[in-house]
Amino acid sequence: MKKRMLPLIMLAVLVWAGYAALMAYDKYFPYGRMRETPAVRPYEKPIPVMEAGTVPVADPEAAYQAMEARKLRSPLLPGDPNAIARGQVVYATFCRQCHGRDHDGNGTVGQSFSPLPADLRSSRVQESMDGVLFQHISCGAGSGSRQPALATTIQISDRWSVIAYIKSIGVRG
Ligand code: HEC
Repeated sequence: MKKRMLPLIMLAVLVWAGYAALMAYDKYFPYGRMRETPAVRPYEKPIPVMEAGTVPVADPEAAYQAMEARKLRSPLLPGDPNAIARGQVVYATFCRQCHGRDHDGNGTVGQSFSPLPADLRSSRVQESMDGVLFQHISCGAGSGSRQPALATTIQISDRWSVIAYIKSIGVRG
């Protein structure tokens, strides 16, 4: 009988010591427990008033996108050399990887696209209205097209500049 009691007592002591250690750990736990931290219910606090200027109501982007492409006019003067120079920089940054150094659609990245990037010196692109090109560059060229929508990537004035640049190189001879 005694032989059996000893291991039982040892086991009880061990369990108690373990439990006591756990409680001590819990008591000095440095972070808040879920049951102790306040639970915030939905709509318990009033929704904070939005700071003025958070939603851009004066930004022409929304107006541009709502407008019919054919009615969009470039704000640039035709052949403006500063805009063309700026457009060249924009092209090298945002278009060349797909449309190629020679604007023919043979850029390295573009080769994985189907359809392949357009030849920007084709008469189809060169004869497109600036407003149509603007919307295609901004929002994509419609369903089935792979032209990326770059409205959030390129600022408005740079989009007009890159169009001026593309138009300045003309139809491939
Ligand atoms: C990620 C690759 C990629 C980038 C970057 C890119 N394009 Fe394209 N682009 C394409 C592909 C692919 C097409 C062919 C889509 C189609 O016609 O269906 C295309 C088509 C076009 C077209 C013809 C669409 C039309 O019918 O009007 C124009 C114009 C054009 N891109 C201009 C640009 C300009 C300008 C830039 C830089 C601001 C640019 N693209 C950046 C891939 C790209």
